[in-house]
Amino acid sequence: MAVDDADALYLGLISGTSADGIDVALVHFQDGKPRLRAGYVHPWPVSLRTRMLALAQAESSIDLDTFGRLDVEIGECFADAALTLLKRNNIPATTIRAIGSHGQTVRHRPGGKYPFTLQIGDPAVIAERCGIDVVADFRRADIAAGGQGAPLVPAVHAALLSTPGQTRIVLNLGGIANITVLGADGGVLGFDTGPANALMDAWCLRQRGTAFDRDGTYAASGQVDDKLLKALLADDYFALPPPKSSGREYFHLAWLTGHPQLRTVAAPDVQATLLELTARSVAQAIRGQVAAASQVLVCGGGVRNGVLMRRLQELLHPVEVTSTASTGIDPDLLEATAFAWLARQRLLGLPGNLPAVTGARGPRVLGAIYSASGSKSS
Ligand SMILES: Nc1ncnc2c1ncn2[C@@H]1O[C@H](COP(=O)(O)OP(=O)(O)OP(=O)(O)O)[C@@H](O)[C@H]1O
Ligand SMILES: [Mg+2]
Repeated sequence: MAVDDADALYLGLISGTSADGIDVALVHFQDGKPRLRAGYVHPWPVSLRTRMLALAQAESSIDLDTFGRLDVEIGECFADAALTLLKRNNIPATTIRAIGSHGQTVRHRPGGKYPFTLQIGDPAVIAERCGIDVVADFRRADIAAGGQGAPLVPAVHAALLSTPGQTRIVLNLGGIANITVLGADGGVLGFDTGPANALMDAWCLRQRGTAFDRDGTYAASGQVDDKLLKALLADDYFALPPPKSSGREYFHLAWLTGHPQLRTVAAPDVQATLLELTARSVAQAIRGQVAAASQVLVCGGGVRNGVLMRRLQELLHPVEVTSTASTGIDPDLLEATAFAWLARQRLLGLPGNLPAVTGARGPRVLGAIYSASGSKSS
């Protein structure tokens, strides 16, 4: 497939582990670097989100008919998200070279004899509805090559935020937290450190009935329980060397409530302890990787949790902890931007993974192309 990239625009679509909405990024490229032109977060219809999250529970069993229908329904919702951004910005679909659609992860099992990862949201439906070629299924080739299939964003962090002679860390605080270490020598490392918001969201929903702890105020109303924190931090995942990746099928409410130490702890103190767990596990992972970083640049929804950001700054002092916004990069749309970048890599026949990050046997071209009806591409 030939790629005329001169004025090409791409769309990146993702719903992350928190499933708080579908992020859409409209991106153009300048010297190979993705530049955000416009962004939009499309809300999930409540009933669809509930059914989708039920499917993503580790213990869920679902019949194939329900699964197939859900795949299409989620695809329709992704198409709505893309079309809404285009309409709001008066951008004709014909000017979009391709959509990179991550889909919604409903299972991520990178270990064992038959490792797999499963993202749904039928890309053929998105291509048909939008009239735009769609690249999707980005993680499977990396897993087939012995990798974790995640994280994939470090390659984009490197393209956008590497500065020669400086060691920088990019920290994504989504449902799960992942770090990218951009070495002063150009080397890149990265892995999932553990939970960012997933457990805090789950506990807050259970205790307060709200999807997340706005600004960390609920956590700030409690005290960290040292015994519970110690028990949570003793989980093997935190000590595991990279490459490693995780998801909500591991760090979920049952993981938390399975710790007997929880029973005697007051609800606000549990929230405070979960925030501390995120901060400590992230700080520990960063220290384990780099003796001296100049800056930690934070993206993802957790950047809006002032209590968490302050705690990270305390733990990582004297390293500066700041939002990627300080470098002109929207912290909410970096992941969606990454999937526009990955779509372009696929069309150019270039690798999308970093083997040093995912542990794959080598660089791999990632994703499958779903051509729009009537498209000239083959
Ligand atoms: N004002 C806020 N105060 C506290 N937390 C917030 C605020 N806004 C967003 N968040 C947190 O950010 C989360 C969403 O972040 P984000 O969209 O980066 O996660 P994600 O979609 O799961 O991405 P990923 O795939 O990286 O895990 C919410 O679930 C919530 O916990
Ligand atoms: Mg999100």
